[in-house]
Amino acid sequence: MERCVVVGAGGISNAWFPPLMAEGVEIVAVADLRREAAEAQIARYELSAEASTDLAAALAKHGPDFVVDLTVPEAHCEVTCAALEAGCHVIGEKPLASSMAEARRMVRTSEATGKLYMVSQSNRWHAPHDQVRRTVASGRLGELTTIACDFFIGAHFGGFRDEMASPLILDMSIHHFDLCRFMTGCDPVSVYAHEFNPAGSWYRGDVSASCIFELTGGVVFSYRGSWCAEGCHTSWRGDWRFIGDRGTLLYDHDQAPYGQVVAGDEGFSRPLAELEVDTSPLEHTGQHGALRELLAYLRTG
Ligand SMILES: NC(=O)c1ccc[n+]([C@@H]2O[C@H](COP(=O)([O-])OP(=O)(O)OC[C@H]3O[C@@H](n4cnc5c(N)ncnc54)[C@H](O)[C@@H]3O)[C@@H](O)[C@H]2O)c1
Repeated sequence: MERCVVVGAGGISNAWFPPLMAEGVEIVAVADLRREAAEAQIARYELSAEASTDLAAALAKHGPDFVVDLTVPEAHCEVTCAALEAGCHVIGEKPLASSMAEARRMVRTSEATGKLYMVSQSNRWHAPHDQVRRTVASGRLGELTTIACDFFIGAHFGGFRDEMASPLILDMSIHHFDLCRFMTGCDPVSVYAHEFNPAGSWYRGDVSASCIFELTGGVVFSYRGSWCAEGCHTSWRGDWRFIGDRGTLLYDHDQAPYGQVVAGDEGFSRPLAELEVDTSPLEHTGQHGALRELLAYLRTG
């Protein structure tokens, strides 16, 4: 049975304790700058774990197999590097880091210590996203040329997001950027990004953005997003359009993915047929899916 220390006992830890328990992982300590937060989660989930405000001491005392980093983005680099240097593998919440310099330091530390650092992108383990991925890969849309994603939510969080420099891009759009890679297999080559803070914003940092990515294969991905957009919300997953040279796949407003493909060679608008969308065999969703991937690595190499 693997043993772990959870660092950061805030909102997202509620998505981690149940799967850790379901997978039989022993949670030996919960660390947080706020002892009361660690104690509250230990009580809530009836854990026989130690509550700690000192991660280094908890790692030295318990020597866990891995650490789950659920701290705020600005703390990921410090916490994850400390855990790797203490000889632990790390699975952490997105985003990887809050700057490229931090991200590079984390990758270097993982390589130097020989310990795995995995960023959990929970949206990869969601059946409709797997359906989109399979359908795009099937070639039924023809060659993929164009992707668009809109994300507009008016979100009043309070807490760290109201204060950070790039709340939308760093804490939310990272999901959509990663999903774009996951669902299409394309990687970004270049990007023009315009980040801004609209009038009336309740965020300190820029919370809206328009971005144009060039992806591998010459695919163009247009992204528009805001966490400061009242009314007529999109899905939290984003509202997506994938265009290939034989048809279009839509995935929006949390409906099942659907689309149309060309079914004839004549007419101003070509005759169209319903796109066949793949099914997904996914069983474990969200953070549970990511955790199982880490455990498979630990158990099988
Ligand atoms: N995958 C998802 O869908 C999803 C959803 C929400 C949040 N998240 C991510 O989870 C992370 C945490 O978000 P949250 O909403 O739980 O935030 P939160 O503010 O509710 O909790 C963060 C906790 O980390 C603690 N903390 C901060 N710095 C620390 C440090 N150096 N050492 C120990 N503890 C520290 C804070 O005291 C707080 O209790 C963020 O990276 C966020 O992007 C992911």
